[in-house]
Amino acid sequence: RTRYTGLIDKYRDRLPVHDDTRIISLGEGNTPLIRLNNIPRVLGKDIDIYVKYEGLNPTGSFKDRGMTMAVTKAVEEGSKAIICASTGNTSASAAAYAARAGITAFVLIPDGKIALGKLAQAMMHGATVIQIKGNFDEGMQLVKEVGAEAPVTIVNSINPYRLQGQKTAAFEIVEELGSVPDFHCIPVGNAGNITAHWMGYSEYHENGIVNTLPRMVGYQASGSAPFMRGKMVDDPDTVATAIRIGHPQSWDKAWKVHEESKGWFDECSDDEILAAQKLLAEKEGVFCEPASATSLAGAMRDIQSGKIPEGSKIVCTLTGHGLKDPDIAIQQSTAVQAVDATLDEVKKAILANME
Ligand code: F0G
Repeated sequence: RTRYTGLIDKYRDRLPVHDDTRIISLGEGNTPLIRLNNIPRVLGKDIDIYVKYEGLNPTGSFKDRGMTMAVTKAVEEGSKAIICASTGNTSASAAAYAARAGITAFVLIPDGKIALGKLAQAMMHGATVIQIKGNFDEGMQLVKEVGAEAPVTIVNSINPYRLQGQKTAAFEIVEELGSVPDFHCIPVGNAGNITAHWMGYSEYHENGIVNTLPRMVGYQASGSAPFMRGKMVDDPDTVATAIRIGHPQSWDKAWKVHEESKGWFDECSDDEILAAQKLLAEKEGVFCEPASATSLAGAMRDIQSGKIPEGSKIVCTLTGHGLKDPDIAIQQSTAVQAVDATLDEVKKAILANME
């Protein structure tokens, strides 16, 4: 029996580390690939849908895959501080890995519109949290300017080690399925993750480990959909705050993925996103944050329309855990029933809810 010690140890020969590199890990990666049982039946389609539950990473999102690499390399290169702009998950992850490494983390977050769980994480791990009076895109611009002047390492996905770490999600999927899926559906914000997955699949393809490639399908929230508009969006908005991004950093890379994989981009409304989040939680027992549900919302629409044909094998990435954003979850649920603490009242409440 070998102990799982994180994705750098597991994929060491495919990552830019040396034998004596001190690895900063929290046991990230190795997340479950869950086959959906009930939703295909709801859709009435003969379809194989898997969700890659990245919310089960140590800080509750896929960012940990990239952060273990970025922080490992920052420490190796002698950096004493890291910095990022974030809609929440990157800051939570950066804060945790900096704590683990014993270095400082600075995080710039937008004014409001950050899910509370993520803020709690950055604060608990001791990061310096700087809330700017602006959105993510403005924060990202500032981080680039600070990074050029101060001795801090930027750990946003423009840091190339981030994508190296994140490509391992594709490796895990191939190992579980024994092949690539036909379609890989994924939420798109900065477009780092779609790029990283394509890197992973392409690497296995070039090395002859797989002989086909998936079509990469990127879904955005309608209010923050620069890839659909064909240009940057200056005032992005969506309930899926994690992907409230109008100026994606990996713009060119993602268009290349689109072209090379013969995939497509599409957009989902906030209502569709929340409906998919709820459906997944209620029908499959899987709780993801709103941004993550964008992949399933889009996939369901494309399955219904036949764009994704029956008989296909699909993987949807669920990028972050549902507990990240309790407010949105509670808002869209029915109220808790308050009753007197008597057997009679409790019985009544139960009977009233039995079909
Ligand atoms: N899903 C979640 C839950 C995210 O937090 C993000 C990005 C994405 C999807 C989009 O991934 O940017 O690689 O296309 N969150 C960043 C952050 C921006 O600051 O946490 P992408």
